[in-house]
Amino acid sequence: MTPLLIVIAGAVVTLAFVLGWRLLARRASLPCPTACLWLLENRMMERVAGAELLLDRAGVQPGMTVLDAGCGPGRLTIPLAARVGPAGQVVAVDLQSAMLERLQARLESHALRNVRALRAALGAGLLPAGTFDRAFLVTVLGEIPDRLAALREIRAALKPGGVLSLTEVFPDPHYQSRQSVRRLAEAAGFRMVEAFGSWRAFTVNLARPE
Ligand SMILES: C[S@@+](CC[C@H](N)C(=O)[O-])C[C@H]1O[C@@H](n2cnc3c(N)ncnc32)[C@H](O)[C@@H]1O
Repeated sequence: MTPLLIVIAGAVVTLAFVLGWRLLARRASLPCPTACLWLLENRMMERVAGAELLLDRAGVQPGMTVLDAGCGPGRLTIPLAARVGPAGQVVAVDLQSAMLERLQARLESHALRNVRALRAALGAGLLPAGTFDRAFLVTVLGEIPDRLAALREIRAALKPGGVLSLTEVFPDPHYQSRQSVRRLAEAAGFRMVEAFGSWRAFTVNLARPE
């Protein structure tokens, strides 16, 4: 096979996978399995939605208390914990215990002690109210069955004036457009403050009104 044919075949297989997953996800809750972590931790993701870039967009500072909602194995949690430092705290929430086990192993290997891992479904009402300066929701929204309830819970978990920084990346099978994110966020009581990137990979910063 020529290199061009290999590239075309790769693109077709990826497209079929994304479309198939998107269709299945309409019928059932299908959170990203650990077998697909290569979709998150690769050079393309690093370029368009790398952890340090997302932390800068959200204005994360030492001493802050931050929620990493749908943390996965900790792609963001580890740099977040390093940035907020010993005076700050990170609460990392995920639905799947397999993700939290991987996160725990990474935290131990980095000797980070300012992260609390919590197994919870976003929207189930388990987050502490009025606690966080910042919250992250990175390529998670489309995986949540009741998105409005999850966004309302995150808004209540922020301090007044606190910011949810939400990122979506195409072709994530659960990708949500900027318009639908905006509509949902406003229905959940957020105020849109800033947007970065293009439709292929964007971040919106959403504030809990004072
Ligand atoms: C695509 S991964 C993104 C992980 C991480 N945010 C990142 O950017 O590397 C989505 C994660 O959200 C979690 N998730 C999906 N639905 C959830 C829910 N309702 N409550 C909590 N976590 C959820 C999944 O288990 C998975 O680990």
